[in-house]
Amino acid sequence: MPNDASTFAFEPSESRVADDARAMMLVDPGFGRVFTDHMAIARYDPQQGWHDAKVTERRPLTIEPGTSVLHYAQEIFEGLKAYRRPDGGFALFRAEANARRFNASARRMAMPELPEEMFLESIRSLVRADKAWIPDNEEGALYLRPFMFASEVFLGVKPASEYLYIVMASSVGAYFKGAPSVSLWVTREYTRAAPGGTGEAKCGGNYATSLIAQAEAIRNGCDQVVFLDAVERRWVEELGGMNIFFVFDDGSMITPPLAGTILHGITRDSLITLARDQGVTVREAPYSIEQWEADSRSGRLTEAFACGTAAVVTPIGRVKSVEGEFTIGGQSIGPLTQRLRASLVAIQRGQAPDPHGWVEELR
Ligand code: PLP
Ligand code: COI
Repeated sequence: MPNDASTFAFEPSESRVADDARAMMLVDPGFGRVFTDHMAIARYDPQQGWHDAKVTERRPLTIEPGTSVLHYAQEIFEGLKAYRRPDGGFALFRAEANARRFNASARRMAMPELPEEMFLESIRSLVRADKAWIPDNEEGALYLRPFMFASEVFLGVKPASEYLYIVMASSVGAYFKGAPSVSLWVTREYTRAAPGGTGEAKCGGNYATSLIAQAEAIRNGCDQVVFLDAVERRWVEELGGMNIFFVFDDGSMITPPLAGTILHGITRDSLITLARDQGVTVREAPYSIEQWEADSRSGRLTEAFACGTAAVVTPIGRVKSVEGEFTIGGQSIGPLTQRLRASLVAIQRGQAPDPHGWVEELR
């Protein structure tokens, strides 16, 4: 029976792990390997629209080999976190922004939009059901992964008419653990996104095509790949899963502009706002790889960092390509990077006031 899709009917399930086993798993969960007990799910077809919305036991999906997404990759996703607060409660950070971006991705991928309130309710209901899985330590959070895919069983190449929307949750710790900074590989061979393509959509295909470059990065002893623009092959765009910022000796910052080929990062937007609140000049402007190297060597560039929901704010210490390599600052976190990270994290975790209304407390 169709139900009101903005309410997710709750079908509680017994946890598969005992409380003490879960507590052990949450001490150091890593990233994306520890999954919770429930998932939110809803279906779409043209007759009923969104329907059958529920939070139920997380279980394997059974799908036909002819399911459209397996062939043509009509799929989008989001990533956001729920944080535990000092008072024992928990909260979401800018979930409305994820809801809007999800629909922007849906439009680009010719998929049905999901009402924003339904997106938000799916997240709230799942977090309430699985609140015991939110780690209670400095870097821990519950990472929420909403996604939607073409579930119609049909091999014709056209937008599917049936979709599944699911939210799963994963208890996570730091994405990069241990090192004071990360190293980047500048890929010259591969690009991530071209004008008119899907660069600013959060679709699985963007990540699939980035993997060969990420593998190249690892082969070259680097942690992550950084992509240049597809037209001139010189403007720095972003990493496989993070935006990028550059900090200069006059205290100003640059980040690549949102010109269609990079993701509209919510962390990026939050950091621009916080930096401007603190009187820092931030320019959204193209920055070339040659300039980056020259500025690092001259000392004009003092810090660089990557940012995203998973990575939070991560300093970049070394940059390598087929031409050679250069380092940035002391290859550890610089003062502005440190200050912005601290300001952001304090708001997310309820340790500082929330002047922009970014946090939604849940009970
Ligand atoms: N760029 C890409 C390609 C990403 O996958 C992500 C992660 O979501 C980001 C940037 C950062 O976006 P956000 O800050 O919204 O997590
Ligand atoms: C996120 O930060 O939410 C992402 O989707 C990036 C991915 C590397 C986990």
